[in-house]
Order: sequence, then structure tokens, then C-alpha cells
Amino acid sequence: MTKIGIIIGSIRKKSESARIGAFVEKLLTDMDAGVTPEVFSLRDIELPFWSEDRWQADSGLNTLWKTQSDRLKTCNGFVVISPEWAGMAPPHLKNFLLMCDGGELAHKPAQLVSISSGTGGAYPVAELRMSGYKNNFLWWMPDHMILRHVATLFQVDPPTELDVTLEVRLKYSLAFLVETAAAVTPVREKLQNLALYKFGM
Ligand SMILES: Cc1cc2nc3c(=O)[nH]c(=O)nc-3n(C[C@H](O)[C@H](O)[C@H](O)COP(=O)(O)O)c2cc1C
Repeated sequence: MTKIGIIIGSIRKKSESARIGAFVEKLLTDMDAGVTPEVFSLRDIELPFWSEDRWQADSGLNTLWKTQSDRLKTCNGFVVISPEWAGMAPPHLKNFLLMCDGGELAHKPAQLVSISSGTGGAYPVAELRMSGYKNNFLWWMPDHMILRHVATLFQVDPPTELDVTLEVRLKYSLAFLVETAAAVTPVREKLQNLALYKFGM
């Protein structure tokens, strides 16, 4: 059984990231490849921003974090959905990635999906590929997706031509992700040594 965590990077109540996350969850369930999706909604998790309490084993922050950390550790791979906010990935998402220093994401593949209500969406991809992985060792898949004019996508039945094109491509990416997650799991179990190399260079 392969478990794929879906990390929703927005904390907005009416969030397009959350809507796309639900769409991805359904695609993963329908794949019929023994995949169990699990959603990590940053809005629902209500994680405080990082502080030095993170270094105190018995701090309230660590008690809160442990629940999420344990859930993340059971996942073999991830879909990370990031909206573009002012040309950035949301600070809550960067905070979440910062908290993951206990091997939660380490050497696990992740499909990046960036969204924009307009024609943006490239900046979170650049940012997360550059700085979202060093110490958590998240392994970005090479082919990210950018969903532009997101509010118009996957809303009508029958689907638009663009909906069909994007859904086919999303399924292709998810199939790659699921196979990679399964294939890499024994490699990770065999080689990973976070006690020796806890931080990336
Ligand atoms: C604070 C804020 C800043 C935004 N800045 C950008 C931006 O720089 N580029 C862009 O394409 N869209 C921007 N948008 C529009 C978002 O793409 C759009 O609101 C999208 O639905 C956000 O995802 P969410 O609904 O999951 O939060 C911004 C939205 C917010 C709330």
C-alpha cells in the first residue's frame, strides 16, 4: 500500500488549493493502484510559526507537531499544492517545511502543483525548488504543474478542453509519483542515515 500525503499550502477558508487538493485526492483514489491519500490542510492544522520551542522536547509546539510528524512519517510520497501569494509560496507552507526536520519528508518524492487565479504560479515553483528541501530532504519530481486561472478549472460538466488536457497531465504526473514513491521506499530503508547526515549542504 502506498500512502500519498496531499499538503494544502493555503490557509484561506475558501481556498482554491483546497479545492484542487480534493480533486487530486479523488484522482489518487480512482487510480485503483492501492493508493491511500491523506490530506494535510495547513488551515486545519493551525501550526504556529517556528520558534526555539522546537528545540525543547516537551514544548507545546512539539506536542502539537508530533501528531502531524507521525502522520507524515507514514506517507511514501507527497503532492504539495502551493498558491502564489505576492510572488511567493505562502509563509505557512515554508513554516511547515521548516518544521519537517525529523525525517518526515526525507528522501520521499513530491509532486509540486502551483496555482494562480491569474497568469502567475511560476514563483512558488522556483522558490520551493530552490529552498524548500535542503534540511527536510524532500525529493521534488522533475515535472511540476502550474494551474493558471485556477478558479475556472475543473468546474463544469462536461469538462472544457483545457480541463481534459490538464487532468490527463495530472494523472500522468500522479502515476509517476505513485510508482516512484513505491520504488524509492526500499532504497530509503536501505540507505537513509539521517543521524549521520541530518542537514543538507
Ligand atoms: C495575499 C495574496 C497574494 C496574492 N498574490 C498573487 C500573486 O502574486 N500572483 C498570482 O498569480 N496570484 C496572486 N494571488 C491570487 C491567488 O492566485 C488566488 O487568490 C488563489 O486562489 C490563491 O490560492 P488559495 O485560494 O488556495 O489561497 C494572491 C492572493 C492572495 C490571497
